[in-house]
Amino acid sequence: MSYENLRLDVSEGVATLTLDRPKALNALNSATFHELEAALTSLPDDTRALILTGAGEKAFVAGADIAEMADYGSEQGRAFSALGQRVMALFEASHIPTIAAVNGFALGGGLELALCCDLIYASENAQLGLPEVGLGVIPGFGGTQRLTRAVGAQRARELVFTARRVKAEEAKAIGLVLDVVPAGELLAHCRKVAQSIAKAGPLAISQAKRVMRQGADVELTVANMIEQQAFGALFGTEDKREGMQAFLEKRPPAYKAR
Ligand code: CAA
Repeated sequence: MSYENLRLDVSEGVATLTLDRPKALNALNSATFHELEAALTSLPDDTRALILTGAGEKAFVAGADIAEMADYGSEQGRAFSALGQRVMALFEASHIPTIAAVNGFALGGGLELALCCDLIYASENAQLGLPEVGLGVIPGFGGTQRLTRAVGAQRARELVFTARRVKAEEAKAIGLVLDVVPAGELLAHCRKVAQSIAKAGPLAISQAKRVMRQGADVELTVANMIEQQAFGALFGTEDKREGMQAFLEKRPPAYKAR
């Protein structure tokens, strides 16, 4: 499938999805959301990890498309929020681990998209923030909620209220990104992490992701029960038989694509 605003490359089980709208610093318009949804839901069955990044050297994603939103009224604004929230929730809930390679500005909807990914790595020149109040609106793709969960309520309020942009090193210090990497090495670094994930049992990875995400929103005893059920279910899988047999036979496991 070919896309107008995206590039998708899949190699050795690792998909790289590049937002590519250079004229708007990869800003998210409705068409791009529909393409993101199509790309995510039509990945090859043997995809084991996904890297999300932005084309060019300046921006990951500079936010929702301001030109598209400028004439929106209330109902269109709410519908755009619903579209963005739905597509971002798909990334968050995907059984495939997702890595955001933040290679420049990740503002507004761009940061909100990164916050849906499982791991966020930033280049040294990255700047992250939620500047929406400066435009007279608020973050509308889950940013008010996910930023709060990522960095704590008070820091999130400060960043939303002041619209301040955070540079890469500070983003790491406040737990917004996992690591900072020189710009020229960012994609290679993310690929290395993705390839290491791709070697593991795919069902184990998807269950680990689900259990850790679902568990974060419920009480600990309930979360441990979710873990216990997933642990048990994995013991009934071919992946478990292959993983443990390979260890005993001192060979690398060969997990089947599905
Ligand atoms: N939407 C549409 N177009 C955008 C855009 C956006 N979010 N961000 C940048 N562009 C366009 C600019 O209009 C400009 O186009 P022209 O060349 O046709 O004038 C082009 O991209 C390059 O941008 P700049 O000239 O502004 O580049 P810069 O280096 O001077 O500044 C920047 C870069 C700081 C990222 C600046 O572009 C900027 O502030 N962008 C907007 C960031 C923003 O406010 N994002 C939040 C959007 S609201 C949102 O996301 C809502 C939500 O949660 C639902």
